[in-house]
Amino acid sequence: IGNYRPARTVSSVQNINPEGSPMTKRLTTTGGAPMPTNDTSKTAGPRGPLLLDDYQLIEKLAHQNRERIPERVVHAKGWGAIGTFTVTHDISHLTRAKLFSTVGNSCDVLARWSTVAGEPGAADAERDVRGFSLKFYTEEGNWDMVGNNTPVFFVRDAYKFPDFIRTQKRHPRTNMRSPEAMFDFWAAQPESVHQVTILMSDRGIPVNPMHMNGYGSHTFSLWNDEGTRTWVKFHFKTQQGHKHYTNAEAEMLIGKTRESYQEDLYNALDSGEFPKWTLKIQVMEEEMANEVDFNPFDVTKVWPHDQFPLIEVGELEMNRNAPNYFQYVENAAYSPSNVVPGIGFSPDKMLQARVWSYADAHRYRLGTHYEALPANAPKNAEVQHYHKDGAMRFFTNDFDNPDAYYEPNQYGGPVADPSVTEPALKIDPEAFRYTQEVTEADFIQPRALYAEVMDQDERDRLHDNMAAAMGPCSESVTERWLAVLKRVHPDYESGVREALKTAGDVNAVPVTDDTQVDAAE
Ligand code: NDP
Ligand code: HEM
Repeated sequence: IGNYRPARTVSSVQNINPEGSPMTKRLTTTGGAPMPTNDTSKTAGPRGPLLLDDYQLIEKLAHQNRERIPERVVHAKGWGAIGTFTVTHDISHLTRAKLFSTVGNSCDVLARWSTVAGEPGAADAERDVRGFSLKFYTEEGNWDMVGNNTPVFFVRDAYKFPDFIRTQKRHPRTNMRSPEAMFDFWAAQPESVHQVTILMSDRGIPVNPMHMNGYGSHTFSLWNDEGTRTWVKFHFKTQQGHKHYTNAEAEMLIGKTRESYQEDLYNALDSGEFPKWTLKIQVMEEEMANEVDFNPFDVTKVWPHDQFPLIEVGELEMNRNAPNYFQYVENAAYSPSNVVPGIGFSPDKMLQARVWSYADAHRYRLGTHYEALPANAPKNAEVQHYHKDGAMRFFTNDFDNPDAYYEPNQYGGPVADPSVTEPALKIDPEAFRYTQEVTEADFIQPRALYAEVMDQDERDRLHDNMAAAMGPCSESVTERWLAVLKRVHPDYESGVREALKTAGDVNAVPVTDDTQVDAAE
């Protein structure tokens, strides 16, 4: 199937000393003292019981009990790699970001790709949106691009995000994933139909991270030394070409291995096959945002290519496996709040909620000083701040200047640099909870995707994939969702309705029926 290769045995360092071979390093306690044994408990007599002063046994078991940290609340299953980003085209007129100052400039990048809904042990080849996270270790600090393999998102107000995610996770009583919940929610949020169409299209199951695009999805901004702001969309286009599994292929594959992405990615890098992406941007002058006939800060929309052509900027190459998965990929803490001078946010209110949410998630998942972990610590920029102490303050806290532990001070402590002040942003002065009604504008882009970008075979597979996903939904949810599809295109609705006749397990019991059983008891 596809380019699946079975896992290769990875040679590990042998620590058993065959006769005559040199001694390996001495095993020690965490305090550094040599250990006499790592496999025999101290007991009263050969039959036991254990003696409490076998402290190192207690230590070993206690460490094991603390080996897991909370999984990410979303995007828990992931695959990572390290690589290099190189600037190939000059955009220094748009941004003062040092990274983009000269053609040929480059920096290391830590990438993590993920599925959204599954737990850390989920199968890789499941139908889901893929996360596409990049940490650029630039000379003016870390820039994180925490995007997806889709250019749009399901909802456009952060209030709806936790509810949306709840529908993707397990039902509280059945502890199973619930198509009923997913389509009930989407039917009530028709703006989601653009993203759901992409999810149910061929691109819903890429064969591995190498064969998919990455998108910043939101609108961001670039600003230059003259204080000019430009709105921007980021696109990372795969150079390996798009490759996807059908539902049937993915089912067969998952029967053989649940780790197909990890295997493909690890083995490709290990054997010197380095995947690449081309960074392209779309740009819009600041004032033009008020003139286009769509909201350029709405993450359920793309910017049409004919109006906003793609401009080539650079190349991303992944060329190394992380030396340790937990230390680099599990400990990776990406946040849209990590921008560098010359790159900024936009008024997109979903993006702003994300700017606050991720660091909070990291403090909970990894701890107060998560930015100092090897995966997250800036590699090419000096870190100088006044945040002190706290749990696991394992790095120097005075930056060689112990008198400068508050600000302002007369002892040469670090001071802010006004030259990196972002230009002022004009905003609407009237604060209000603005309802975003669903209008015809929400169906134009999914319609273009359905009717103009996809060919008939792709549309047929889309109908089948969606019907398979909806299989066990109640009639009311099914009809409400079909009504949303009809607003996109009548053939979309009739195609899925037809496919539903043959899809799914007809004996599956919808969750709503279970609820009625409860009520009758
Ligand atoms: P174009 O006709 O210029 O290009 C079509 C785009 O669709 C390409 O970027 C292509 O990606 C992408 N695409 C093809 N199949 C799928 C799929 N199954 N799921 C998601 N994306 C797919 O696009 P327009 O700008 O005129 O927009 C037409 C529609 O294309 C939009 O309404 C939107 O739904 C979709 N689209 C637009 C994007 C944009 O930024 N403008 C980005 C992605 C999708 P690739 O080039 O990598 O093959
Ligand atoms: C992960 C919140 C929308 C992409 C996460 C995490 C949180 C979160 C809390 C877990 C972080 C961690 O523990 O490391 C939110 C909120 C959103 C939102 C509140 C909306 C208001 C989005 C959107 C995208 C996105 C629109 C893509 C465009 C990702 C990715 C990850 C992630 C890729 C995984 C990061 C990694 O690889 O570690 N999100 N998210 N999220 N999110 Fe979001």
